[in-house]
This record gives sequence, C-alpha cells and structure tokens, in this order.
Amino acid sequence: MARLPPPLAVCSVALLLYVSVSPCHAAAAGGKPSAVVLPVSKDGATQQYVTVFRQRTPQVPVRAVLDLAGATLWVDCDAGYASSSYARVPCGSRPCRLMKYRECFNSCFGEPSPACLNDTCSAFPGNAVTRVTAGGTIITDVLSLPTTFRPAPGPLATAPAFLFTCAHTYLTEGLATGATGMASLSRARFALPTQLAKTFGFSRRFALCLPPASAAGFVVFGDAPRVFQPGVDLSKSLIYTPLLVNRVKTAGKYTTGEIGIDYLIGVSGIKVNGRAVPLNTTLLTIDKNGVGGTMLSTASPYTVLETSIYRAVVDAFAAETAAKIPRAPAVAPFELCYDGSRVGSTRAGPAVPTIELVLQSEGAAASWVVFGANSMVTAKGGALCLAMVDDDAIDILANI
Ligand SMILES: *[C@@H]1O[C@H](CO)[C@@H](O)[C@H](O)[C@H]1NC(C)=O
Ligand SMILES: *[C@@H]1O[C@H](CO)[C@@H](O)[C@H](O)[C@H]1NC(C)=O
Repeated sequence: MARLPPPLAVCSVALLLYVSVSPCHAAAAGGKPSAVVLPVSKDGATQQYVTVFRQRTPQVPVRAVLDLAGATLWVDCDAGYASSSYARVPCGSRPCRLMKYRECFNSCFGEPSPACLNDTCSAFPGNAVTRVTAGGTIITDVLSLPTTFRPAPGPLATAPAFLFTCAHTYLTEGLATGATGMASLSRARFALPTQLAKTFGFSRRFALCLPPASAAGFVVFGDAPRVFQPGVDLSKSLIYTPLLVNRVKTAGKYTTGEIGIDYLIGVSGIKVNGRAVPLNTTLLTIDKNGVGGTMLSTASPYTVLETSIYRAVVDAFAAETAAKIPRAPAVAPFELCYDGSRVGSTRAGPAVPTIELVLQSEGAAASWVVFGANSMVTAKGGALCLAMVDDDAIDILANI
C-alpha cells in the first residue's frame, strides 16, 4: 500500500536538516530556550519563502526571504534603519577574523549609521534570487524570535547582539514585497542555525517546513520535538539521508560565495512511476572539480535539472502519461503541460506519475517520493505543468 505523506496540507515539503551537532555545548543555562521558531509563508507573486522576526531597539518586525545558502542574514540598513542598540564589528575582532570572505571598511566621514562606520568588518551579501552581490558593513543588533509556534507564537527569545550584514536598498530588488533582506540557513558560522545555536546553547540543527501559498510553515531551530501537527510525530515516518558537502566550489551555476556551506544530498537515481530513468549517473556525484551533485535550494521556485537529466526525466514522464492525460501547449518556462481539467486528483494532489529520487541512506536505499502536489504547477490558462526546468534555460526563469 502506498503511504501518503501525512503533512501535505501543512507543508508542501518538510526538510529536516540535521546539521552536524557540535560536540562542546554546555548544558543549557537556566532560562535559555531549547528551541526558537521562525514563521514561514510563501509569497504568491514571487514564490519566495518569507519569514519575519523582530530586530533593533525599539523592536520592529523585519521581513526577509529565506535562503538555504548565504553566509549571514543581511538586511537593508539604508531605508529607515533606526536603532539605539546596533554596534559595529571591528575589523580586528574575532567574529570578523572568523568570517571567510570579509574586508575592512576603514573610514566613513558621513553621519554615523549602520552603513557608515569606522574600522568595521564588511562582507558581500548576495541576493540569491537576482544573483546580485554587493558590499556591506557587518554589525550586531538585538534580534528576537518566538520560542514556540503552536498553538500560537510563544514568548520571545532575544539575542542581544546578533551578527548580520548591512546592505543597501538596491540589493532588495527582486525580493517579495515587504522583504528587506535574506535570512541564511546555510552551514556558515554566522548563518542563523549556527549563530542561534551558539547564542542559546541548543543543538545546531533545524527543521524546515515549506508551506504552499496561503498556508503557514516554519523553521524550528534547536531541540524541539518533531511534532508538527497535533498527534502526528513526523520522526516516525521520516526517511534519513546524509547531507553532503561540496568542498571545492559552491554548488550551482549561479550561486556565489562561501565554499562548503550548501546542503547537498546523494541522489543515486531517478524513477518515474517506479521505473528507473536512464541517466548518466556520473553527473549525480560531485567530481574532483566540485561539479555535479544535487543541492537543496529555496532560491529557485522550481526544480532545476542538468540538461541531459532534464531531457530524460521529462521524456519518461511524458511516456508514462501518453494516451492517459491529454497534453496542453507548453507554458514557459515549463515544457510538459496537461489539460488541467482532464487530470484526476488524489489526496496527494494531481493524479500524475510519481517521481522518486533514490537516495543514499543507511541500509536499504530510500526514496524521496514526489507526488503530484509537489511536482505539478498550475500555469496560465489552467494548464497543469511539470514544475521542472532545464538548467540551460534558467535565465528565462530569472525573468518570470
Ligand atoms: C571616523 O573617524 C574620522 C576621523 O577620526 C571622523 O572624522 C569621522 O567622523 C568618523 N566617522 C564616523 C562615522 O564615526
Ligand atoms: C557522463 O557525464 C560525464 C560528466 O559530464 C561525462 O564526462 C561522460 O562522458 C558522460 N558519459 C556518457 C556516457 O555520456
């Protein structure tokens, strides 16, 4: 019997990223939270995942787009940044020396502000959506986020000096309306998972629930139980796969920045309706030049596949549906589209072939089975399209 993923109504994708637990945590000090939470919603216009936290003194809500890559949280410090509690990170300080890519912003002769400081560490925040990178000062400020998420946001936990990078307003172009920065969930030392774990003394791990538009998702950092819906303990139905590190280059053609901070998984094959798709599996492994492999990303709204793999998967999917579901004309950037009114529906979304990512796992191979709810997208005119794009056509994607 096929098992359907229970949390479909809540999360379109639930990823539990157990980042390696650092060995040297003292027992949590009294009063420190064992977990903190960020709410996540999907912006309908851009398909970006947006979160909100409180920052500065007096505190204001700050919206930021989630990114699984990126070295630090960055926010627009030009437009109305007002706070009595920000502090510069001096060039010679330990946090600055620990940053992989940084420079020193020596002097500024304007009115002092988060973006105009003397002797301040600076870095290169990047907009993962537009792939624009710029320079910005590194500062700290108060950051608060809730400690629980169900049934309602719990009391706030406060990091008094949370390190982040300032950006100029233009770097926010292309982000969802209202978002003034990007919140990095990467492995980097000052990205949220590690910095929050250090601040609050909990495990360096997080669980990410990515919601469909108009539903509520979340990121839980720390040692929260994996119960995301009352009565549904996800840890009983989870499959596990190791997270891999590319130590040679940043994965993906267009990502910039620090090496070894992305999350990669070991996909060893792809099946459509249970049948293996013939692929050049060499492309699925990371070679000595750091090329190949499978990266998890929240920056692209659809699955991006290397050209030959894309061709093979789309052809296999088309073959499985031929003579069963009437096709519709392609709707860019998607190639394989169906007449939406002629596709049946199931609890797991449109009745289309499953796509299985065969994963590296302990013991028997595990599969990440992608059902219609997560593989198909409704395009203009009601066509239902396979939500995959060819890596070579990715510039088209950047324009939609
Ligand atoms: C930086 O130092 C110079 C020289 O001491 C001073 O004139 C300037 O006002 C300082 N800038 C800021 C932003 O504090
Ligand atoms: C598979 O891909 C690798 C890496 O691009 C390439 O060197 C090799 O020639 C390919 N093999 C086949 C059979 O196409």
